[in-house]
Amino acid sequence: MTIGIPEIATRVVRWQKEHGRNHLPWQNTRDAYRVWLSEIMLQQTQVTTVLDYYARFLARFPDVKALAAAPQDEVLALWSGLGYYSRARNLHKAAQQVVSEFGGEFPHTVELLSSLPGIGRSTAGAIASFCFGERSAILDANVRRVLTRVLGFDEDLAVAANERKLWALADQLLPNEDLHHTMPRYTQGMMDLGAGICTPKSPACMLCPLESVCAAHKDDDPEEYPVRTRKLKRSSHSWWLLLERDEGGRLWLERRPQTGIWAGLYCPPVFEERALLEHSTGNHAPLEDLPVVTHVLTHRDLYLHPVVMSASVRKTKINEADGAGYFTPAEWTALGLPAPVRKLLEKL
Ligand code: ADE
Repeated sequence: MTIGIPEIATRVVRWQKEHGRNHLPWQNTRDAYRVWLSEIMLQQTQVTTVLDYYARFLARFPDVKALAAAPQDEVLALWSGLGYYSRARNLHKAAQQVVSEFGGEFPHTVELLSSLPGIGRSTAGAIASFCFGERSAILDANVRRVLTRVLGFDEDLAVAANERKLWALADQLLPNEDLHHTMPRYTQGMMDLGAGICTPKSPACMLCPLESVCAAHKDDDPEEYPVRTRKLKRSSHSWWLLLERDEGGRLWLERRPQTGIWAGLYCPPVFEERALLEHSTGNHAPLEDLPVVTHVLTHRDLYLHPVVMSASVRKTKINEADGAGYFTPAEWTALGLPAPVRKLLEKL
């Protein structure tokens, strides 16, 4: 069966209305602040996890001005547990930019939206189409899978020129009429197809509105898409964490630097070797090793070696880095802590 390009958009739009997700808390609004916040949270986190964080975040920061005015620590504390903290730091910076450069109103075009920290082309496309009915494509991992399969696009997406080609095709497939209504539906429809139907393994082609026009379905090889040759290289890394409590049971924490892993979050002092940790305690303190915790990041496995020291014998003083100090459990609970560190501390 051959169909024209406009027919694909029409089918997706119609299918979304009947079968897509239509009651998520960031839907049925054109408020760019709410849509933007949801898109950033959803970039690396599942819908079910995002729901609670989203509600809490909005209760504390109901609009972009409130977020821009908040201290970074508070933003990171509300993000604590969602991971990928550069999202929270960029969110905060972008809010400040929306206020300072755009008078507190999000710009409407993909070009201006992508000038904000943390907003890539696909996120900008989502915001512009959901909120402003702009004819702008998205191409996140889910949509990439749907499009490469439907089109039978088997060129290697590790090659930038091929990725650009796919973007151009994504643009061509967008709706052409009544954009204010069709663009949000089409964008959500592509996301919904990717998340629920056109899954990486065993896609539910029988339920797909594009089944009869899908090249991969015709060839019975949807799982071969998308094609990407370059594999992620993984590395592993060990960190020793010094858990030091004073006589009152307060714990020593320091704020991490603004770049790198866990940037801006609070954490016990980190050492790349156990000998360096021992040295920092003056080599005299009795130390107790706790079981190693493995933390899986996008490109590396991080092995965390918690080492407990009793504070009274401390000989060498730790540098009082920015924000460093002793914190009671009630205090550190409210700080922005990396999720594995929080888990570790809760078990102490
Ligand atoms: N993932 C990214 N954006 C989404 C949205 N608007 N709804 C559901 N999942 C998403």
